[in-house]
Amino acid sequence: MTESLKGTVALVTGASSGIGEATARTLAGDGATIAVLARRGDRLRALADDLRSEGTTTLVLEADIADPQQVQAAVGRVVAELGRLDTVVNNAGVSFTGPVAEAPPQEWDRMLAVNVAGVLHVTRAALPHLVSAAQDSPRRVADVVTISSTAGRVARAGQAVYSLTKSGVNAFCESLRQELQPKRVRVGVVEPGTVNTELSSHMREGVRETVAKQLEGMELLRPQDIADAVSYMVTRDRRVAVNEMLVRSGDQTW
Ligand SMILES: NC(=O)c1ccc[n+]([C@@H]2O[C@H](COP(=O)([O-])OP(=O)(O)OC[C@H]3O[C@@H](n4cnc5c(N)ncnc54)[C@H](OP(=O)(O)O)[C@@H]3O)[C@@H](O)[C@H]2O)c1
Repeated sequence: MTESLKGTVALVTGASSGIGEATARTLAGDGATIAVLARRGDRLRALADDLRSEGTTTLVLEADIADPQQVQAAVGRVVAELGRLDTVVNNAGVSFTGPVAEAPPQEWDRMLAVNVAGVLHVTRAALPHLVSAAQDSPRRVADVVTISSTAGRVARAGQAVYSLTKSGVNAFCESLRQELQPKRVRVGVVEPGTVNTELSSHMREGVRETVAKQLEGMELLRPQDIADAVSYMVTRDRRVAVNEMLVRSGDQTW
């Protein structure tokens, strides 16, 4: 444990499972005070109990990032109750794959609402606080990290709309990086390959089995592998901006 984030506050969206939960635990280990956001409050409360028992002040935010008002209220609570906001990890996301011709449009709407609009709402609500944190913190830097995907780099059959959302946030983050660089708010993207989480368990029957078959025999990444990448990015000294990290499973060809 380096404690290099001591005195700072980190907000992690989608912290009720998988990569987000591992990231919240890891940033707590780096010394940050933590705000965890997702819809499943019971899972967040269990995580918060754990983190508090290890000495980390933790705020639970039960909210849907697809709803801008809920996001605004949640970010407002972070600053009101924890005093500041230095690091945002835009991790919450959903993935519904399968051929375009067979896809229920509700799945596309959900991916656009969470993976794209949700990232925009959270980032927009957090920005003024990140800018002031970068000015007044001893580290003199703040961070927005968005969890994209290898699907944001390489579009494959069966992932058209998921890829669209992830390549979209890559473009958003690159533009934002240029806007915020003079204010010392770093903007980074982590692009995981296939990670062993609940993500595919929400897919339709049939699609779920196809995905499982594609991954058969592969050693998948663990959520901690991605949490480590996020931690690396946000614990660098202010002179270093690690803006992009692509982390594939060693067995992954795409
Ligand atoms: N697993 C992979 O192979 C992989 C690969 C590349 C990229 N990613 C990306 O990594 C991120 C995390 O996914 P994961 O693999 O860790 O899957 P996961 O275990 O299913 O986690 C997804 C998280 O997002 C939250 N979430 C979903 N919809 C939300 C909403 N409307 N509002 C607030 N929170 C919401 C979920 O919490 P609630 O359900 O409690 O709201 C959950 O905490 C996603 O952006 C995903 O696209 C994953």
